[in-house]
Amino acid sequence: MFVSDNLNVNDNGNLTIGGVDTTVLAEQYGTPLYVFDENKIRESCRRFKESMDRCYGGNGIVCYASKAFSCMEMCRVIKDEGLGLDVVSGGELYTALKAGFDPAKIGFHGNNKTDEELKYAVSSDIGHIIVDNISELARLEKIAGEFGKKPHIMFRIKPGIDAHTHDFVKTGQIDSKFGFALETGEAFEAVKEALSCENLDFMGVHCHIGSQIFDIAPFEEAARVMVEFIAKIKNELNHEVRELNLGGGFGIKYLNEHDPAPYETYMERISKVVRSACEELSVNQPAILIEPGRSIAAPAGITLYTVGARKEIPGIRTYVSVDGGMCDNPRYILYQSEYEAVVANKASQERDENVTIAGKCCESGDLIGENMPLQHAESGDIIAVLATGAYNYSMSSNYNRIPKPAVVFVKDGESRIVVKRETFEDIIRNDV
Ligand code: LLP
Repeated sequence: MFVSDNLNVNDNGNLTIGGVDTTVLAEQYGTPLYVFDENKIRESCRRFKESMDRCYGGNGIVCYASKAFSCMEMCRVIKDEGLGLDVVSGGELYTALKAGFDPAKIGFHGNNKTDEELKYAVSSDIGHIIVDNISELARLEKIAGEFGKKPHIMFRIKPGIDAHTHDFVKTGQIDSKFGFALETGEAFEAVKEALSCENLDFMGVHCHIGSQIFDIAPFEEAARVMVEFIAKIKNELNHEVRELNLGGGFGIKYLNEHDPAPYETYMERISKVVRSACEELSVNQPAILIEPGRSIAAPAGITLYTVGARKEIPGIRTYVSVDGGMCDNPRYILYQSEYEAVVANKASQERDENVTIAGKCCESGDLIGENMPLQHAESGDIIAVLATGAYNYSMSSNYNRIPKPAVVFVKDGESRIVVKRETFEDIIRNDV
C-alpha cells in the first residue's frame, strides 16, 4: 500500500510506522520530526549480511555508509548488527568512535581529507583509509611515519562506468572529482607508488559508481573492470590485492512505480561476476566490501510535518505549506527527488488531489514536491513524507536559523528520542 512495508493504517485511520501511531508521535515530540523504524534498519542490515554470507561464503564485510544518516544511536545499531562503517569526515569518525564503534571496522573516505583528518584516522587505528589521490598518498605516508603506524589503505578507482543516475550523484566516470582514473594509467602508476611506501599497507581497490541505481548491470561491469585491474596488478607488479570494495548505490523505492532489484539478487550477481572473472584471470578471490547507505537508512525513515497555510491558486496549483522544508529535506531543491506523502491523520481516505507541498523557508524553490497525490490537507493536519531516512537529516541545515528537528526511533511499539530537537539557544551557541 505504501512505498515502505513497515507503514500501515490503524483503526483510527492514522498512519503507523513500526506499529506506532504517527499522529501520537507528532503530538508527543512535536513537528517537524524524523522518525526511524529501528527494526527496519536492522532487517536491511541482516539482508545484506546474510546475502554476503550465502553468495560469497562470508568472505566480505558490509559497511554502512554513515553519510546517509549518522548519529550515535545509529552507529550503535549498526555496530550491534555486526556491520562495518564508512565515514567521510572527521565528524562522522568522531560520532562513530564516541558511540563505541570498533575502529578496526571503520573505513575513511573523501576526496580531500585534511591532514588533521588523516592524523585522526591514523592515530585511531581505523581499519582502512581509502586514498583518493596522489597528494593524499604522500601526505598519508608521512603522517603514518610520524605516528609509527602502518595503516591499511585502499585506492578509490574510477572504473569508467556510467551508472545512469542523476548527474550530481554519478561518480564512476572519468570526469569526477573522486578517485584515480583507470583509462589514463593514473591508477596503475599510483599503485606502483603505494607499493613503494614504507608506512602504508596497500590492501585493495575501491569503486563507487553512483547512487540510487536500479540496474544491476553497471555494478557487474564495474566489478569485472576492477577484477581486471587486480589481475594487472598481480601480473605486472607481482602483488596480490586482497580486498575489493564495490561501494554502495543501490536504488530504493521512493515511489510505487520504482522497482529496485532485491539486495539478494545484487549480491548473487556480483559474487558470480567476481568469482568467474577471478577464475578466468587466474587471481585469488579477494574479500568483497560493500557500502550501502541509502538502502539501509531511507526505507526506515519518514518525516512528519504539521500543515499551516493552504493556498489555492485557481487554474495553477494548490500549495500546502508545512512547518519544515529544504532545511530538513533539501533533496527536492537539489535533485528534484520525488517522494510519496500521506496525510497521517487521514491515511485511510483517498488521495483525491494533487498538490505542491511547500516548506517554510524564504526561497521559492523550497518545496518537498510538486504534483503530489494527497488527501485533502488542512491547517493542523499531519503530513508524513515517506522514505526520507537517507540524506535528509544528514544534509539538513539551519537556513533561516531554523532549528533542526528531533530524531525519534520506534521499536516494538515504543519510541525514544535519539537526537534532541535544536533550540534557539543551540542556534546562537557559537555566536560571539
Ligand atoms: N560509498 C561511497 C564511497 C559513497 O560515496 C557513497 C555515497 C556511498 C558508499 C553510499 O551510497 P548509497 O548506498 O547511499 O547510494 N546526497 C545524495 C547521495 C550522495 C551519495 C554520496 N555517496 C542524495 O541525497 O541522493
